[in-house]
This record gives sequence, C-alpha cells and structure tokens, in this order.
Amino acid sequence: MGRFRGRSTTVLKPKSTHQVSQIMKWCYDKRIGVVPQGGNTGLVGGSVPIKDEVVLSLSNMNNVRSFDPVSGILVADAGCILQSLTDYVAPYNHIMPIDLGAKGSCQIGGNVATNAGGLRLLRYGSLHGTVLGLEVVLPDGTILDQLTTLRKDNTGYDLKQLFIGAEGTLGVITGVSILTPPAPQASNNVILALPSFNNVLPLYQTVKRRLSEILSAFEFIDRASYDLAVKHGQGRALSDDEVAGAECFVLIETSGGRREHDEEKLSDLLENLLEADEPLVNTGVLAQSPAQFSSLWALREGVPEAVSKEGKAYKYDISVPLSSFKDVVDGTREHLRTKGLLHDKAVKHVLGYGHVGDGNLHLNIVADAYLSEIQDALEPYIYEVVASHRGSVSAEHGIGAMKTHALHYSKSQVSIALMKKIKEIFDPRGIMNPGKVLDND
Ligand code: MLT
Ligand code: ZN
Repeated sequence: MGRFRGRSTTVLKPKSTHQVSQIMKWCYDKRIGVVPQGGNTGLVGGSVPIKDEVVLSLSNMNNVRSFDPVSGILVADAGCILQSLTDYVAPYNHIMPIDLGAKGSCQIGGNVATNAGGLRLLRYGSLHGTVLGLEVVLPDGTILDQLTTLRKDNTGYDLKQLFIGAEGTLGVITGVSILTPPAPQASNNVILALPSFNNVLPLYQTVKRRLSEILSAFEFIDRASYDLAVKHGQGRALSDDEVAGAECFVLIETSGGRREHDEEKLSDLLENLLEADEPLVNTGVLAQSPAQFSSLWALREGVPEAVSKEGKAYKYDISVPLSSFKDVVDGTREHLRTKGLLHDKAVKHVLGYGHVGDGNLHLNIVADAYLSEIQDALEPYIYEVVASHRGSVSAEHGIGAMKTHALHYSKSQVSIALMKKIKEIFDPRGIMNPGKVLDND
C-alpha cells in the first residue's frame, strides 16, 4: 500500500536451508536484525524493515520437495509461490487448502508465517489445522526440523504452531508440509443482491442449511465496495435492474463431488429465496460458464485492487460479530463526518467487505492522501469499537508493524506477557523481525 518503508542496504537470497542457517548464525553473532520476506504482499508492514535490517528473501528457495498423491501431503520450500503450488498439485486432482487474491505472488512460507486466511477458510479451516510440519531456522542458526508428514502426532507441545502467525519474529520458516484436499469435481457460484444488510444473517443460516456440505464460500460486499469494483473494471457488472435497490451483495460458492447434484441444490436454493413471501434477496446471478464464474469472483476479489486504484487506503481487518458489520462501517463513516473529514479532499469512501463465514470484516477507508488528521480520527476509535465487541484487531492480516500498539485491544496483559517470554526464549538478542508483532520495549 506504500505505507511502510525501511532503509536496508542488503537483501540476501539464500538457496538452501543451510545457507539460511549460516546467515542467521552470522547475524546472531553480530546482533544484526533480519527481516524474512516472502512475496511482500502483506498489508501490515510485517515484511518491510523498520530501520536498516538485512532483508532475507526466500524467493530462491522455490522447489517442491515431495508430494504424495495418496495422502495429498505436499512438502515445499517456503519460497514457492502459492499459485505455482496450486498448479503443481492440479494434475493429481488436488488443490491448496488456502486461496487468496495475492496468490500469484505470495509465498507459502509467508502465508504460514502470517497465518493467512483467505477465501477457502470456511471450507478447509485455518493453516493451524492444515500445516502438518515446518522446518524453521532459529535466530542463532539452529535448524529446527519438524517437517513431519504425519496426520497425527500427539507427542507433547506442538512447537510448529508457535511459528504459524508469528510473522517471522521467532525464526525463519524454510519448509512447509501441508495437507492438500482433493479437488472438487464441480464448482459454481452465484451473486445475490440484498435489499438490506439485515438479511445477511438469515440468508447465511438458510444457505448453510440448504447447501450444507457443498457450501465453500460465503463472501460479503457492501454497495460502496461493489460500486468501486465496477468503477475500476473488476469482474462483470450486474445490470441496472439487478442492482436496483441493493444495499449489499453476497457471493456464494459451492464445491462438490457431482455437478448435477450441486446444480440442483443451488437452483432449489435460488428458487426458494426468490419465491419466498418476504424474499431475503432481490435477485441472483448464477454463473453459467467458467468465464462467468471467474468474473463473479472478480467482483469480490477485485475490491482491494479497486480500492488501491481509487486512492490511499486505511485498511482495518477485524473480527466482530456478524450482526454488527454494518453498524461498524456506518459508525465509522458518521464518525469521520462529525470530524469534518468526509469530503473529496479527505476521505472519499468508507466501505466494508469480507468473509462472512469467518466473521471477518474488511473495513477500508479510502482517502485522497495519507493524512495525520484521518489517522488520528480512525485510531484508537476503530480499535475501541472492536474491543467493545471483544473482537480482534487483526482477523487475518497479522499485526506487523502497523498494529503493535493495538495488540492490547485484543490480547490481555497476561497473554502479552507470555508472548514476550516466548519471544525471549527463541530470540534473546531481538534480531528476528524487530519491531513486529510485539513492541520493542
Ligand atoms: C481480502 O479478503 O480481499 C483481503 O484480505 C483484504 C484486503 O486485501 O484488504
Ligand atoms: Zn480477506
């Protein structure tokens, strides 16, 4: 987003775990800070140096180490790009358990280090469940080999979990063992236009009940997000009739084992929704071809790109109860209006979109420029709202450099103190991605 900048002079691109180990040992001895970097697609500055740390790029470690088509277990170097792993397992009829807009450049090591969520979490769960093993180089150069391919391993503390979501503050992930699910034999999607946000919750309940095991995504975009996606050419715009009176939209994806069965379920759902006495939706557009399937997805996946084309974005990635998604977005807009900041020269749009199934709202404020008045109006306001719901200040993007000061809104003092102790055990010299996740104090 162009918000974070360091001034490193050195980028190292090791080709093997052994080289990573040598680099870390050297930096440990000399007390040099190291920032592990994957595809650099994070949104909270986690892979950007704060000062002049050495950047340790994993991009030259990009080989698949093994794949077992029977179990679906893939072992890969951390620098493998997510899309290339998807392509690798596709001929075996498998898919990666994670998918996100940045798939063309993000790397699996970065995905794991940030515990990235994305679009498939509803179906396949988080990386805490699908990652089976990790190889990690610790700050002093020790190689921690936990690259197991076992589905079950109940032998004491599960250390690898500590590195999932640690954002490179405890060690450098160099290898990942991950369970890839069988590819669905049939996928379809539909976009539904809703007259009111209040219908999203009952709709989600109905959809879960009627689609049950074939439901694979339930994504939300409000009207402002939809309009921006269309303005910037993301996906196929619906017709004027289809969007008339729509306050928000929901994208539903199904993935199942038999096309006819899934299509029948989806058509029954649509019929039931549209013919109800008090319909929850105005209209629904069902993909009729693979191209339409992609362009409906692009309306949702393209929102972040549309946002960045429109202006400078303040991004808040929060978990709050689903029922309060709209109140949080509207409340933020009103708050900015009262501060006199909602006009063409300051904040242009306040929008909400996200992963309904995961209770994860992306609240984006699009402005003409990054201004301290806007920043001060947004924080701590938004974090206080999140805390009032006992929500999370970072649902899936991590803490990085952006939210270290806000960690306490979601974690108790006891938790933070324990996190600091863990950091001290792994990284007593404070060289691993300094200034990220935890404050330096
Ligand atoms: C998304 O779900 O599209 C991203 O996590 C949100 C973003 O890029 O801001
Ligand atoms: Zn997201």
